[in-house]
This record gives sequence, structure tokens and C-alpha cells, in this order.
Amino acid sequence: MSTNEAAFSRAQQVIPGGVDSPVRAFGSVGGTPRFIDHARGAYIYDVAGREYLDLVGSWGPALLGHAHPEVVAAVQSAAAKGLSFGAPTEAEAELAELIRYRVPLAERVRLVSTGTEATMTAIRLARGATGRDLLVKFAGCYHGHSDGLLVAAGSGLATAGLPGSAGVPAATAAQTVVVPYNDFDAVREVFAERGDQIAAVITEPAAANMGIVPPEPGFNELLRELTAAHGALLIYDEVLVGFRVSAAGWWGLEGRTVSPDLFTFGKVVGGGMPLAAIGGRTEIMDLLAPLGPVYQAGTLSGNPLATAAGIATLKLADAEVYAKVDAAAATLSAALTAALAEAGVPHRLQHAGSLFSVFLGITGPVLNYVSAQTQHTGAYRAFFHSMLDSGVALPPSAFEAWFVSATHDEAALARVLEALPAAATASAVALG
Ligand SMILES: Cc1ncc(COP(=O)(O)O)c(C=O)c1O
Repeated sequence: MSTNEAAFSRAQQVIPGGVDSPVRAFGSVGGTPRFIDHARGAYIYDVAGREYLDLVGSWGPALLGHAHPEVVAAVQSAAAKGLSFGAPTEAEAELAELIRYRVPLAERVRLVSTGTEATMTAIRLARGATGRDLLVKFAGCYHGHSDGLLVAAGSGLATAGLPGSAGVPAATAAQTVVVPYNDFDAVREVFAERGDQIAAVITEPAAANMGIVPPEPGFNELLRELTAAHGALLIYDEVLVGFRVSAAGWWGLEGRTVSPDLFTFGKVVGGGMPLAAIGGRTEIMDLLAPLGPVYQAGTLSGNPLATAAGIATLKLADAEVYAKVDAAAATLSAALTAALAEAGVPHRLQHAGSLFSVFLGITGPVLNYVSAQTQHTGAYRAFFHSMLDSGVALPPSAFEAWFVSATHDEAALARVLEALPAAATASAVALG
């Protein structure tokens, strides 16, 4: 049997940082990442044979729990028929229909392989549709790692973007305007100044990549109103919340009150396989090649294994699944806040449906990225490692949501509840 240390050391000799996606390296919490051997239901197992109750859920896809037998069987049966054809399959239309059934505004759907591709394509479509270049995004919202979206906020209410990563051309970053989330006046100001140049506003309709920061009442409605008034498009990036917080994602949970022009989906829609999607109004989506002038393509787009996993997942994700996930999240978040209060840890818990996260060391509402950054990350580090020692795997970053699944039953939750008091005490010590 291997150890996590040996696996990490080996990986670091051949993979930059030893990981294929940065947050997996435990950079912000320290220590050795767990190298996973397998996972089942609510549990993951590392290469050293240790079991952990999992609250990461592959960063969202594992709504039904890991390795759901029917999803695995669907993938196996697809695999037996061939891994990839580079030609259309009937299953792709079936998955697109399932998506449209849940979110009817997605009149046309294009399948791609990653959330990054989905948002990149949605933005290209918006630019193609409007003939404009400027993109408005919100500080602290993550939309994947394409150049124009790796842009940090500058100073001031709405600043021309500066690259948030080496290798992003300044000219590309300058096409993105970054505005604080939930800042009604800043959005109004951008539209007042540059409304005729804006191709689209892209938003996480409930932000989940700076911890959970739900929209203030009326914020998404304002985005719709301003984009419509200025001839710009509104993109709901539901890669994380889509099909997770309700059968129709955040758009459904919000009450279908806002009608975005385009949606992006990922994570749950691929059931754990590399699959994502763009959906929207027919006249915009039909601008995509081969019908229209906006190019998008992919050797593995609509891959038969990924499509099979997506179809099986959406078919299984019924009202009972969402009720179980909601109930597990409610139990867990109530226990979390009780344990922290008992240990005297100031904290702020925020929800977006069944997604929640905790900001340690602060109590006021977190409305945007600036306030999210005032949390005490050292307290989270201590909390995280205490939980890990007790066999509970939390997201290795204070800026991520906690994910539960329909397999987080009483026994699974009991493991977390038992671990919480010691972790709360550890974070109290770290806070000093
Ligand atoms: C809201 C949102 N959009 C886009 C992405 C990018 O998706 P992917 O990692 O599949 O490229 C993510 C990933 O976490 C996300 O949370």
C-alpha cells in the first residue's frame, strides 16, 4: 500500500505542483493532499486505505453520491459500444432535451467538455451576437480559466481589468470590466458610462466561488433590466449551482423571475464525467457553427461516456434527491453553527439553497469578495485539519462551498457532527 506522502512526492517530480488543478495541492491549508484510490456514496478512500466522509463531492458533480450504480452501469454500457466517434449520437439530443425540459429558456443546447469551454463559448456568442467586445464580470466570481475571465478587480468601483494570471495579455484583460458583486450602483455606473460597448454581463447568479455569497434581492433583476435596456446579453453561469440547488438550478430556485439570454452548465450535468453545456435562446444559439459565424468545436464534445453519465444523473436526480440533499445541508449547517457558537468562534454561515459555506472570524453579512477576504483563513486551516484528522474531508480552501449528496444519510452526518466540536475548538485556538 502507498502513502499520500509518497504519491505526492512522486507526482511532484512529473506534474507541476503534483496536481492537475491547483486547489488540490492543499496550498491554502498546508499539509499533504490525499491521493484518492476510490469513492462510493458519501465516502472517499485514499491510497493509504483511509476512509473520509466527503464534503467536496468532486467540487459539485457528485449530487447522487460517488459511483452511483446506475450511473456507473450507464457509462460501462456506453464504453462497451465505443469510447468516442467524432460523429453525432442520439444520446446527445437526449441529454440536450433533458436540460431543456428542466430549463426551458435553454431552447438550444450545445455540449462541450468543461465549464471553461462553456463560459468561453457563451462570451464569444454574446460578442458575435452584439458586435461588441466588452464583458462585465464580478470580482470573486469564477468562470473557468480562459484569458478574459482571469481578471482581478482593480481599485475603484468599476475598473478596467488587470490580468489575474501571468500570461493573460493586458489587451485581453482590458476587455473585461470587473465590478463588485451585489453592488447595484457600480453596475448602474458601468452601464451609464459604457453601456453601448457592453456585449454581456456574466454572473454566478448565486456566487459560490468566494464562499457562498447569494445575490441581494433584486440584484439579478437589475442585471436583466440594464442588459436589456442597453442591448447587452445576460449570461447565468450555472456551472456550479445548475441542477444542484434545484431541478432547474438557481434559476429555478430563484423562482424563474429572471430570463437570462444564455446559461452555462457543468459539473452535475456530466455526472462526474467531463461534460458541460451552453444553452439559450434559439436565435442566439443558432449563431454557432455550423449554422452561424461563431466558431466552436471539440473532438470529444458530447462524448458518449460523458453523455451517458449526464443522462443517467439527470434522470435519477428527482424531487426526492433534492429533498435529501436539502435536508442533509440543513442538518449539517445547523450543527456547524452550533459547534462554532459553543466554542465561542465568531462566524458567518451563508447559504445558496443546499450549498453553504462558513466565514470564520467575522459575523457581518458577506456581500462581495472584499468582505469574503476579511475572514480568518488561519482559523479555517486549523478547522480543516482537525476535521481531516477525524475522517471528514472538507474543501481545502476557505473560499469554497461545502457539497453534500443524496447519500449523506444519518450515519454519514453523524461522523461530521462528532468531529465538529474539536474542529471548532481548534479554530478558536487559531483565532487567539
Ligand atoms: C461557476 C463556474 N463556472 C465555470 C467553472 C469552470 O468549470 P471547469 O472547471 O469545468 O472548467 C467553474 C468551476 O468551478 C465554476 O464554478
